[in-house]
Amino acid sequence: MKNVALITGITGQDGSYLTEFLLAKGYDVHGLVRRHSTLNTERIEHIIRSDYHKVKFFLHFADVTDSSNLMRLVADIRPTEVYNLAAQSHVGISFEVPEYTAEATGVSTLKLLEAVRVNGGNCRFYQASTSELYGGFEETAPQHEKTPFYPKSPYGAAKVYSYWVTVNYRESYDMYACNGILFNHESPRRGENFVTRKITIAIAKMLAGTQEKLSLGNMNAMRDWGFAGDYVEGMWLMLRQDKADDYVLATNEGHTVREFTEAAFAEVGIKIRWEGEGLLEKGYDQESGKLLVDVNPEFYRPAEVEYLLGNPAKAEKELGWKRTVDFKGLVAMMMEADMLAIAGITPTEYKERKK
Ligand code: NAP
Ligand code: GDD
Repeated sequence: MKNVALITGITGQDGSYLTEFLLAKGYDVHGLVRRHSTLNTERIEHIIRSDYHKVKFFLHFADVTDSSNLMRLVADIRPTEVYNLAAQSHVGISFEVPEYTAEATGVSTLKLLEAVRVNGGNCRFYQASTSELYGGFEETAPQHEKTPFYPKSPYGAAKVYSYWVTVNYRESYDMYACNGILFNHESPRRGENFVTRKITIAIAKMLAGTQEKLSLGNMNAMRDWGFAGDYVEGMWLMLRQDKADDYVLATNEGHTVREFTEAAFAEVGIKIRWEGEGLLEKGYDQESGKLLVDVNPEFYRPAEVEYLLGNPAKAEKELGWKRTVDFKGLVAMMMEADMLAIAGITPTEYKERKK
């Protein structure tokens, strides 16, 4: 039987890596894209321009909040696997657009599951669940599949709904439906307003002379940051098992926002000297004394998830999944990509600079 994947959120970070991964495995890949007033396909532009386009790679206009659209597309495409990656995925912004987040990140999962069920229910379903489910529940860190949920944002609450409705369809209709509970994963394709990419872009711009300083919010938040390319393989592995189940993907290595900032500056040979605390915290170039980092309360959230650290033991044991990029490797990869793209230096110049 031909493998046919339907990916919602194909224009996002994970959607682009997953598409590359599945095409390399011989899948036909269908992706849903939203209409924008400007083109929004930057992350998959290289695939659109490749020989796959309209042969093994197909795009369809759709919005995951539009159930009739989903129903028709599932009926037309007849996917063997559905990867539900679409979401309003920014935690901070979910406080600004809570109702839309509930629709796009929560209820849309029900709409897609229902479209699959009504069309026969026999394709495998991946739901992009998240460590934000655990939110404020830190006591049993590293968090694992059995850790209780305590979402701390409209985004987290919407993802809790999606998690449970996925389990519910698995149990009620015997559908092969899985939750991948993924801890933060980043890459050079990460959205520009997530903290890691915001940091690497800002450093590249500062070195190019087009930005003065980097302003951040909560510097003490700890995250378990992995590489997105590793995580999309985990999604695919979850759909390869005899029985559908839910799995954590994480690195079990935690770092604060402050540590990520230090590590990114270190990649370009700058050592940060920290002074002050909370809103008064500042980071200076140890050598020149120039102010490079400060704190701006604009980037604080009404409620914060302070500590996320994941235990991927079940995925490692049952799926044979293993991350290939560690924290240092991830920071290096992201910093190099932004230095080449933004600071306009060549790979050779970058290597020279790092010596
Ligand atoms: P992302 O870069 O923000 O991509 C989100 C995708 O969803 C984009 O393609 C976006 O389309 C699409 N989308 C948003 N609202 C939509 C709507 N109403 N209809 C159709 N498409 C819509 O997110 P990501 O980092 O790739 O993450 C993928 C999924 O994993 C998300 O569900 C996220 O919540 C979840 N997750 C991510 C992480 C992580 O660390 N990256 C960890 C755990 C879980 P546009 O391009 O048109 O905006
Ligand atoms: N975005 C942002 N911008 N975050 C900042 C900043 C800033 O200037 N300063 C500090 N932070 C802190 C946030 O408060 C948060 O504690 C941490 O940095 C990480 O923020 P994000 O990079 O925005 O990611 P996130 O952890 O909130 O959410 C991401 O990971 C989740 C999985 O744990 C997203 O990808 C979610 O979609 C995903 O579910």
